[in-house]
Amino acid sequence: MSETPKVRGGLCLNVDGEGCKQFVARDIQREQAKAPIVGGPKSVLVLGCSGGYGLASRIAAAFGGPKADTLGVSFERAPTDRKAGSPGWYNNEAFDEAAKAAGLKAVTISADAFADATRETVAQLAADNGFAPFDLVVYSLASPMRTDPKSGITYKSAIKPIGKPHVARTLDIMTCEMKEVAVEPATDEEIAATVKVMGGEDWVLWMDFLKAKGLLAKGCKTVAYSYIGPKCTQDIYRSGTLGRAKENLEASAKAITDALADLGGVGVVSVNKALVTRASAVIPAMPPYISCLFKVMKAHGLHEDCLDQIDRLFRERLYSPDGAMPVDEAGRIRIDDWEMRPEIQAEVDALMAALTPENVEATTDIAGYRTDFLALHGFIG
Ligand SMILES: NC(=O)c1ccc[n+]([C@@H]2O[C@H](COP(=O)([O-])OP(=O)(O)OC[C@H]3O[C@@H](n4cnc5c(N)ncnc54)[C@H](O)[C@@H]3O)[C@@H](O)[C@H]2O)c1
Repeated sequence: MSETPKVRGGLCLNVDGEGCKQFVARDIQREQAKAPIVGGPKSVLVLGCSGGYGLASRIAAAFGGPKADTLGVSFERAPTDRKAGSPGWYNNEAFDEAAKAAGLKAVTISADAFADATRETVAQLAADNGFAPFDLVVYSLASPMRTDPKSGITYKSAIKPIGKPHVARTLDIMTCEMKEVAVEPATDEEIAATVKVMGGEDWVLWMDFLKAKGLLAKGCKTVAYSYIGPKCTQDIYRSGTLGRAKENLEASAKAITDALADLGGVGVVSVNKALVTRASAVIPAMPPYISCLFKVMKAHGLHEDCLDQIDRLFRERLYSPDGAMPVDEAGRIRIDDWEMRPEIQAEVDALMAALTPENVEATTDIAGYRTDFLALHGFIG
């Protein structure tokens, strides 16, 4: 470790780039060590490729057996003489180096995925680098804002309840300090803006664009990631502004499947497990919930990280041996199934109810949360 992490108010202010690279290399090795995913994708576009679920998707596609060529888009900051880059910058570098060493095409750009110009750049890069039409498009963006390419208006998402105020319990993962923070309900404008940023409009734009350019293969699949979660995060998440955006994203899957009918293509949403990523770390109720969840899931031998989740998504859902794609009544893939098991949630509820700053270290897996959070910034110890 070249320096020690500086964490203030739930944010890590510095980055260990070498640590980020080692973390990615470790995940690639883990994926390579598994039995190959049979029938997986060969040419993949990953929107939001630099961290969390998007990076895991890219690693599973390239190193999980299918040996896919991958084109990745993310919004990351390059290092300068005076300042380190953002963690995802180093993750991308590590991925590109490993993929190229394995003889795979790997092209990565740092650009605003919501901009039409980025879509054009992707089309050009796909052509210049001889990518086959994409047979998988992964939509894994998590962003606080989006400029609508048609109107030029910039929308900012809000993390707020709808209809009534909510008191969120926050947990400082470094000091174990817990606070109650009152969050006022979102205005109609804030709800609409959050749907604009995190809903499905941009996913649809991407798929329409790629299809019009002839960049989608017959039988292609596209997957976007969603979250539902338990009762204790409902007010701030699923019944709040972010939940509205996710409902919109989920409805877009159906519209995309309809639009891809002539290619035999499918658009689907996968509901994933709550994990420590740069995106989830800023949602107030998540650190205490995830600390309790990890404790219980690890005790039951059911814990998974992003790579485990996506490996299972590919192996058992998107590319299952019998070709079946199990979905719930709303047409969603559920790899949050283990998280949402009633017996897991009952134990998590009991831990959450008894949580105090004094017992959080001993009764929950806040240590595991902390380890994962620091690892996001390359502090892998
Ligand atoms: N983390 C969780 O617990 C969890 C659970 C279920 C579903 N999800 C969903 O998974 C998806 C990915 O989230 P994550 O947690 O992996 O987040 P993350 O912060 O790790 O990754 C977000 C990615 O989006 C990219 N990005 C952000 N704005 C961009 C822009 N304007 N242009 C290009 N790239 C941009 C980032 O560079 C990064 O690659 C989200 O839809 C999220 O809601 C997350």
